[in-house]
Amino acid sequence: MDKKYLRNNQYLDSKNLDARISLHQQYSTNPINLWDWTSSQYHLKNNDKILEVGCGTGDFWKTQQNKLPLNIEITLSDFSEGILNQCRVNLDNPPWQFCLADVEDLCFNNDSYDWVLAHMMLYHTKSKEKALFEIKRVLRPNGCTGILTVGDTHMSRLIPTDSDNMTITFNESIADKIIPTYFKKFEKHIYEDCLIIQDIGPIIAYLHSSPSFKNKSLSDQNKIVNTINFEIQSRGSFSVPKRLVLYICHK
Ligand SMILES: C[S@@+](CC[C@H](N)C(=O)[O-])C[C@H]1O[C@@H](n2cnc3c(N)ncnc32)[C@H](O)[C@@H]1O
Repeated sequence: MDKKYLRNNQYLDSKNLDARISLHQQYSTNPINLWDWTSSQYHLKNNDKILEVGCGTGDFWKTQQNKLPLNIEITLSDFSEGILNQCRVNLDNPPWQFCLADVEDLCFNNDSYDWVLAHMMLYHTKSKEKALFEIKRVLRPNGCTGILTVGDTHMSRLIPTDSDNMTITFNESIADKIIPTYFKKFEKHIYEDCLIIQDIGPIIAYLHSSPSFKNKSLSDQNKIVNTINFEIQSRGSFSVPKRLVLYICHK
């Protein structure tokens, strides 16, 4: 998807991202929260130096800020000024530093970080190769990157996978092919969940945060909403399976 469109529309501010995060926060049924699960795979240590690329509104750190190891240094970066400003508001106490940065052309020195985290963002990049090259370049020898992305049918009951031009370029089957070409040693972890949603309002907000939905005609949009609403009325809820994949890759 076009970088200009992403920066100037989809991620001009945090409205679209907030609608998405809110749906997951309200209706996820896995008793282990995604960010607690993700963080438990990392085993961060005292004095670690961490970079997050495409940090969004800082949702991961909001949930982890009371469990941080000592003397940790964290740089949160994103290519959208509007998103990064919201992140600054959400995380107002150190150890955070904030930096406007495009993952395809990082403004950080070689061999600088113990961890680079890239959660739900590599599918937005024009060149996965450039982004992975940059992530590897700024990692210290023996450093690790945590790459979280979507399974092939993640959320497909809401936005059918074949029309989701946001995530299709770096889903699980593509990541499975690209990641080993950059990182010889990596582990793959799977997180499964299911949204059980009883209310059409947050679903409509989520759908309108998706460019592929917004591009449909009004009558097609109404058809989708009515079908989902019918299921909520007749069954009491609408269920949406989720599958996320976390690759922990070693430099
Ligand atoms: C789906 S959001 C994920 C945000 C956050 N990582 C999370 O999981 O909550 C994708 C984020 O990546 C950012 N982004 C997209 N392309 C980027 C790029 N080339 N470089 C840096 N950030 C980018 C967007 O501005 C947005 O904040």
